[in-house]
Amino acid sequence: MNIKITKKNYQEKLNKLKIHNKLYFEKNSPKISDAEFDKLKQEVLNIEKKFPSLKNKYSPSHQVGFKPSKSFDKYTHKVQMLSLSNAFDENDLLNFEKKVSNYLNKKEKYKYSVEPKIDGISASLTYINKKLVYGVSRGDGKVGEDITKNIKTIKDIPLLIKDVNFPNEIEIRGEVFIKKNDFLKIKDDFANPRNAASGSLRQKDEKETKKIPLKFIAYSYGFFKENNFKNQSDFLKELKKWGFKTNKDNKILNGINELLNFHKQFENNRYNLDYDVDGLVYKINDLNLQNRLGYTSNAPRWAIAHKFSANNANTKILSIDIQVGRTGALTPVAKVDPVNIGGVVVSNATLHNEDEIIRKDIRIGDIVKIERAGDVIPHVIEVDKTKREKNSISFTFPNKCPSCGSEAIKEFNKITKKYDAVRRCTNEGYGCERIAIEKIKHFISKEALNIDGLGKKVVEKFWDLKFIKKPQDIFNLNYSKIEKLEGWGKLSANNLKVSIENSKKVSLQKFIYSMGIRHIGIENAKIISENVKNINDFILIIKDKKFYKFANINGIGETQINSLKNFFSDDLNQKIFIELKNILVVQNENINKSGILKNKTFMFTGKLDGISRAEAKSLIEKNSGTTLTSISKNLDILVIGEKPTKKKVDDAKQLGIKIISQKQLKELLD
Ligand code: IVH
Repeated sequence: MNIKITKKNYQEKLNKLKIHNKLYFEKNSPKISDAEFDKLKQEVLNIEKKFPSLKNKYSPSHQVGFKPSKSFDKYTHKVQMLSLSNAFDENDLLNFEKKVSNYLNKKEKYKYSVEPKIDGISASLTYINKKLVYGVSRGDGKVGEDITKNIKTIKDIPLLIKDVNFPNEIEIRGEVFIKKNDFLKIKDDFANPRNAASGSLRQKDEKETKKIPLKFIAYSYGFFKENNFKNQSDFLKELKKWGFKTNKDNKILNGINELLNFHKQFENNRYNLDYDVDGLVYKINDLNLQNRLGYTSNAPRWAIAHKFSANNANTKILSIDIQVGRTGALTPVAKVDPVNIGGVVVSNATLHNEDEIIRKDIRIGDIVKIERAGDVIPHVIEVDKTKREKNSISFTFPNKCPSCGSEAIKEFNKITKKYDAVRRCTNEGYGCERIAIEKIKHFISKEALNIDGLGKKVVEKFWDLKFIKKPQDIFNLNYSKIEKLEGWGKLSANNLKVSIENSKKVSLQKFIYSMGIRHIGIENAKIISENVKNINDFILIIKDKKFYKFANINGIGETQINSLKNFFSDDLNQKIFIELKNILVVQNENINKSGILKNKTFMFTGKLDGISRAEAKSLIEKNSGTTLTSISKNLDILVIGEKPTKKKVDDAKQLGIKIISQKQLKELLD
């Protein structure tokens, strides 16, 4: 063919491609079908293959494998992007449904929206006045990266919505992913489809993103003011009408049995799908119930991800080590003959706790099936007892802590009337070496002091070198020694110094959490700090052992109070806490509450109708009120349900406390 004619032909096709691209991406009104578009693109690529010299900067040819950029602007999600809790078997699902029933105070066969869990990267799309204005990655759930330019290159994502019913402002959430077939074409550049999606989505130059055929499936919403939908399934249907792609395999099912059957069937078929899935997501379909259930600190109470059984392999248990955790829990870990599971060499598997070893009768020398599912630590599924040696003996779990030699016990749980499955070292504090190291790791962790450059490995190293024995040693490090260590140097040592200095300013909540006290997680630390308001009052309480003062705080029960008592009755723990308080700049809680129940305290007595105590409490808190657990002068309103305790009502009357019914409370909130 004449080169001149070819050049003309190439230019024409390329121009056409540019026009249709623009119509598709910018105007959101394609004039040709996807197939025609793909055909045109292929023709351009074919010409380029024969005549590489024709290629210019507008060529659609693939260039992949660029590193994702770190230089995106930060964007704070209006509504957090949380993750999902996982279920692996029927038991986990039954537990999930039990929690839902307890919370809602209602036992029934729930309807679920069932959605394949595509293994990609989640994204949040903000539409204002029907126009896509932001495309944001999940980030840490609170703050993501502004990747709007890259998001706009994805064909499945509409830039402008035409539907008249589309809300004025909404965050559409969904998954960005790459189909298996498309991945095959670029598989040399990325480890797996998920990496390919994440890598290409986070390119500095959006033209690089555009070269990868990314897809988007919508499944949820974040901020959505005028939400009048009754069911998740209605919302999914509407998403489609608005112009989003939804998963054609989405389903509505009733009750756990239907979920289990469908899971089995879908898992068997997973390899025939044209996208990667790692499980199914089950969401309570009724959005009113979803709203009532709300969220824990990191996941919704109304949804769960039922994972597919991941890759597994058989191997031999060489030994069983006992690890000691921050709160003294002894965790048995099997050292196994290294085995490759799905591309990762596994040589350790958790055995969870003593009861698990007894239940499965796991012994050293056994051949076991090990599973590695997603990010979860590999664990033993079953023992192949046919391969067991005749002289094998049961494993005896130690009753002494392997780190400090203290007695290790199983606590009796008064509520379940059973002994815990976990055995614990009775040394709550820094007297036990392993507990001390784990406590220091917790102290510097992301949710606590968040010290950049001081990771878990560095803590281990500094411990071995005797640089750190207590958390406060972190603020008294010898940097001239550190810079001489292998892999360090002046710059890294100085960076560490700066981030340690920066970490000194800390909220009361984080400070309490950073101590790593058992049962005092982020949520409880927050509740306590909001209640005591300042560090000096907190110190007075622990010095005078007036822990009962916490008894009135909603969410803090006997378990938490006993744990605080235990922790601070150890002189060394108390000394460390006070010394740290003098080093750190602990900022008092600045509570900005503006709900209609602001400054009001509530207490319940009697059985509530159609709602659990936990949900009622959280309703009060959502509206900035506080709940108390005993009658006192501090109580403003006593809410009475069915068969209230007479004494409580009488005491309240005597103190002149306002008494209202559940119905009146509802009216107040409405
Ligand atoms: S709903 C509040 N629905 O799973 C939770 N997530 O572990 C909102 N995912 O980050 C998530 N398919 O990337 C939801 N149909 C689906 C999903 C889905 C995949 C991913 C998503 C999320 C992760 C949660």
